Amino acid sequence: MVNPNKDIIILGIESSCDDTSASIIKNGEVLSNIIASQIIHEQYGGVVPELASRAHQKNILPVVAEALKAAGISKNELSAIGFTRGPGLLGSLLVGTSFSKSLAMSLRIPLIEVNHMMAHVLAHFIKKPSIDKVAPDFPFICLTVSGGHTQLVLVKDHLKMEVIGETLDDAVGEAFDKSAKVLGLQYPGGPIIDQLAVAGNPDRFEFSEPSVKGLNYSFSGLKTQFLYFIQKGCQENSNFISENLADICASWQKHLVTVLFSKLTKAAKQYHISSIAIAGGVSANSALRLRLKETSITEKWNYFLPDFEYCTDNAAMIAMVAHYKFVGNDFSDLDIVPTARMKF
Ligand code: KG4
Ligand code: ZN
Repeated sequence: MVNPNKDIIILGIESSCDDTSASIIKNGEVLSNIIASQIIHEQYGGVVPELASRAHQKNILPVVAEALKAAGISKNELSAIGFTRGPGLLGSLLVGTSFSKSLAMSLRIPLIEVNHMMAHVLAHFIKKPSIDKVAPDFPFICLTVSGGHTQLVLVKDHLKMEVIGETLDDAVGEAFDKSAKVLGLQYPGGPIIDQLAVAGNPDRFEFSEPSVKGLNYSFSGLKTQFLYFIQKGCQENSNFISENLADICASWQKHLVTVLFSKLTKAAKQYHISSIAIAGGVSANSALRLRLKETSITEKWNYFLPDFEYCTDNAAMIAMVAHYKFVGNDFSDLDIVPTARMKF
């Protein structure tokens, strides 16, 4: 049983894709959140799984040491270790899982498995010492948008979530990144499109919306639509991209946000929910954040935007899930294995 008089100090470890991260949270407040991003993938235009797991192996020890040091916490003070069990790249997950198991075993403290997508949602509950942040009230809907996932999640409690809609193929982050590649931009292209769009006209080019049933999404056809649009433009004018880059980025970004919002507003109506949050790497997108603010006025929603540092992959969100699981005495066995696909 959890001793209510004792501090709960969690070490969170994230290694599901191309960021190695470790974080310390004490009683739900983040003391450190160290992230080593792997730049090696830039030259390949996407994450190379084998290179990612090797980089995690190299980074994990120094990242954990740095997280402890920055928090001023000794490893003997830790209450438990929370780690990303999935979903993600298996080789990458294996590094974080094996490390967490060994450390938990040697320190004789509990091990707590964390679902990465649940963690993106709980990024909204990360508290910073002496900063007041209003967390969403339950139930709320979270649009979780990342490089690997696009989900509409009905959040009933910290650890009670239900996916009510999701992409049937690619994620919206993938649509951002692959379109950026078509434009000759670096990986990850999402933030670059976002920056270039600032100077562009979002109404210059029009695209069509996919027709997908219910609350689900599809982005693979949109990727193809964008590729054909660029090919056609380049056939007519070999400088099409360079002469129109800002307008292309602004119009395409607006379209992706519109596609995301058509299902989000439908979900809010269908479930009679007026507390709406966004999470995941793509929730850093300025057009998406602005659209949430604007739609919240017309739809009378309470909206919740995650802090920028907790949008993309980080271990503070992993530690946050582990904190709530620790409070609920929900621990994992030492023979646990990572899993590339994982449901809530
Ligand atoms: O959550 P995340 O760090 O990793 C996964 O779990 O996938 O999300 C990474 C994704 C990438 O596709 C990246 O291009 C996208 O988030 N992203 C953005 C922005 N910042 C990150 N997409 C659009 N606009 C941004 N500002
Ligand atoms: Zn993620």
